[in-house]
Amino acid sequence: MPTLPNAEPYLPPKRTLPVLRKAVQQCQGCDLYRHATHAVFGEIQLESKSGDHQVALMMIGEQPGDREDLEGHPFVGPAGRLLDECLEQAAIDRSQVYVTNTVKHFKWEPRGKRRIHKKPTMREIKACRPWLDAEMDAVRPSLIVCLGATAAQSLLGPSFKVTQQRGTLITREGLPPVMATVHPSAILRARTDEDRQREKAAFIADLKKISKIV
Ligand code: URA
Ligand code: SF4
Repeated sequence: MPTLPNAEPYLPPKRTLPVLRKAVQQCQGCDLYRHATHAVFGEIQLESKSGDHQVALMMIGEQPGDREDLEGHPFVGPAGRLLDECLEQAAIDRSQVYVTNTVKHFKWEPRGKRRIHKKPTMREIKACRPWLDAEMDAVRPSLIVCLGATAAQSLLGPSFKVTQQRGTLITREGLPPVMATVHPSAILRARTDEDRQREKAAFIADLKKISKIV
């Protein structure tokens, strides 16, 4: 069976974080590059020049949002601010966490003047997976945290249900231990203030479990 177009041909031979981050800007592994400003690659605040790391924790979101697309950095918009706040409350040092996304380009549709987030398809998630694999190889995290269903399904398969398995440690051949929890955007979308507070507390509780493991 012929393989569908994906990111593989765009990956550089030398796969350190700085080299990968530069190369991803040229990726045309699926159509999402067409309407995005930047490809947004993963980052850790204290990155060494060689890009060689052994970090404890890697967090994977879905895809860059509007702000991330414009600025070229992951989790710098409203969801990122909430993530920072919750990490702090769980006593996890944000500067030690490598944060990235399942899909590196922002997928959106216009609504008036705004760009509204659109969920990536399984095909786009698969097309972008070589970048995520290269990040996992370069970062070698001891634990991966999937923020939401997109990241969890990319790593653990399409039948994985975050609602049923959040906060539990999952071991899979060829992967570091993985834990899935909700995406901070889901907390921001909660309909009432009460729901939001409850969701946020549950998210912080999951993060606290992580801080005990790493
Ligand atoms: N949501 C994500 O999944 N990733 C980001 O970088 C920002 C918002
Ligand atoms: Fe390449 Fe991923 Fe962007 Fe698609 S979303 S063009 S696979 S970097």
